[in-house]
Amino acid sequence: MGGLFPDFLGRWRVASFRRKWRRANPHNETQAINLFDPNRVRVGPHSYGGLQVESWGGAEEFLEIGALVSIAGGVKFLLGGNHLMDRATTYPIGVKFLGAELDATSKGKITVGDDVWIGMDALVLSGSSVGRGAVIGARSVVACAVPPYAVFVGNPGRVVRYRFDAETARILSGIDFSALSADSLRKLGRLLTAPIGFSDPSSAAEVADACASGL
Ligand SMILES: CC(C)(COP(=O)(O)OP(=O)(O)OC[C@H]1O[C@@H](n2cnc3c(N)ncnc32)[C@H](O)[C@@H]1OP(=O)(O)O)[C@@H](O)C(=O)NCCC(=O)NCCS
Repeated sequence: MGGLFPDFLGRWRVASFRRKWRRANPHNETQAINLFDPNRVRVGPHSYGGLQVESWGGAEEFLEIGALVSIAGGVKFLLGGNHLMDRATTYPIGVKFLGAELDATSKGKITVGDDVWIGMDALVLSGSSVGRGAVIGARSVVACAVPPYAVFVGNPGRVVRYRFDAETARILSGIDFSALSADSLRKLGRLLTAPIGFSDPSSAAEVADACASGL
């Protein structure tokens, strides 16, 4: 019985934070899965999915997610949490016994570019970046810089291929997804969902031009 009230309180806090997060993010469809500092997370337009963000309060802990990002279920972002390894023990003596607020370090901000798709249960560690247009495979661990338009899988992660060749990717990179309203996306929907070949600069240019003119 003793555990019921704290459990209820915890769930109420998360539910109330979820509503607060939604109110502050009308431009996207992300959902807060746990409690995190909303000042440490910024998400661009139209991105969707659950945000499970683990934070320890270090100054450099930050998560920046671009526009049109798809986040599958179970994805976790670790903004820090690295215990100190160059001491006699990795145990957080400072926090546990010396009244310190923080014993863990972060490798820096996490950035996720526009048009990234993160597969189910992926884990993204501090200091990582996922380049625009990249795909992260289910259950992959990201602990590095994933290049733009790469398909990156596994643990340790590796690039298995690129979605497009360099020229096609360069042209697609010119699309400012964050500037496209829901109305524009609806109007551009046919073009945006038409297949583009691996080496297909002309199709890429057709889409980029249409996006630039907001058709
Ligand atoms: C990455 C993914 C998109 C496939 O991309 P792909 O370019 O078609 O890759 P392939 O299937 O050709 O696989 C290429 C290689 O990566 C490996 N691979 C694919 N996905 C992997 C994953 N998630 N973890 C580890 N290895 C993976 C394959 O075994 C293959 O290995 P090999 O080259 O040694 O044979 C897909 O496997 C995946 O993980 N999808 C996520 C689905 C998901 O989470 N959906 C949630 C709803 S949003």
